Amino acid sequence: MYKALLRPLLFRMDPETAHHLVFSLLGLLFRIPGMRVFVSWMYRVKNSPVKKMGLTFPNPIGLAAGFDKDGLLYRELSAFGFGFIEAGTVTPRPQPGNPRPRMFRLPADQGLINRMGFNNAGVEALAERLKHKPKSIIVGGNIGKNKDTPNDRAVEDYLQCFDILFPLVDYFVVNVSSPNTPGLRELQDKGPLLQLLSTLMEANRTRLQPKPVLLKIAPDLSDEQLTEIIEIVQSTGLDGVIATNTTVAREGLKTSGNAAREVGGLSGKPLTGRSTEVIRFLRKGLGAGPVIIGVGGVFDAKDAREKLSAGADLLQVYTGFIYEGPGIIGKIMSGL
Ligand code: FNR
Repeated sequence: MYKALLRPLLFRMDPETAHHLVFSLLGLLFRIPGMRVFVSWMYRVKNSPVKKMGLTFPNPIGLAAGFDKDGLLYRELSAFGFGFIEAGTVTPRPQPGNPRPRMFRLPADQGLINRMGFNNAGVEALAERLKHKPKSIIVGGNIGKNKDTPNDRAVEDYLQCFDILFPLVDYFVVNVSSPNTPGLRELQDKGPLLQLLSTLMEANRTRLQPKPVLLKIAPDLSDEQLTEIIEIVQSTGLDGVIATNTTVAREGLKTSGNAAREVGGLSGKPLTGRSTEVIRFLRKGLGAGPVIIGVGGVFDAKDAREKLSAGADLLQVYTGFIYEGPGIIGKIMSGL
């Protein structure tokens, strides 16, 4: 139904307009009494719980960060069967992001390029929406820094988001890997990363019940950089890594038009192989302990199985959700 009817309509629109339209329609639809129960039944998933980081995920397939940045629809989206939802990336202050257009479809490649630039309503707005979050929905808080915060003061931004969201989210993700905030990825370098993560983990340890903290990394890191990441995860006692964010690489694309030349991060099928490679490298270096959430071009059960075999404990989807529709979780779970 999605691929035959809805997708052709949505794919005629500008991608961001389609995104907002879907959000508005979902919001309205779920106001109808009983709709949540009906959608949960329609999209019921053969669940298979995964216990990690002190949390019990009903199934290992989550919604990746960026789709519901401001936590507007996490309840509604969870009705489609997601095992968990990641809100964010949020920044301390609201910011508009880059000028539009800033999201592009590459249908021939089953990919997307985006340069959103952390458009979000700010951490306080997300906190407000999460105030009445049911315990049964696992929500992660993906945190970042404002565009106009210099890197040498980035720690303050991350700490602010961490403190405000602490009582409200189930786990944290430190995002230093978006290609769309100038200089952000330099925070993946050994010195700044160690400082950032040590500070956050120190703040975490002062809490009565620390929360799981994961680091989200880019797929464009070299083996040397990945080895440094492994050392930092081990020395700071981080709970895990999310691999990966979008890529700045453009190799092997079938799309020949202008879309392929847009500046930004590429996601979807062209990312599948590289993100799995990163997962495999990390698992080998990290050993069994730390959690790896695998993300990048998961479209079906085969993609999911490959990432799980490479060492991922949990998975996330974004672009696959756009191309395959809301049935994607059920299809992956019944194929696993
Ligand atoms: C993203 N992604 C992302 N990641 C993140 O940590 N914070 C964010 O704000 C965003 N925003 C965002 C916007 C858009 C339009 C896209 C397509 C992606 C990255 C996303 O969470 C994921 O890591 C990658 O897209 C790779 O997964 P898929 O899309 O190939 O399943």
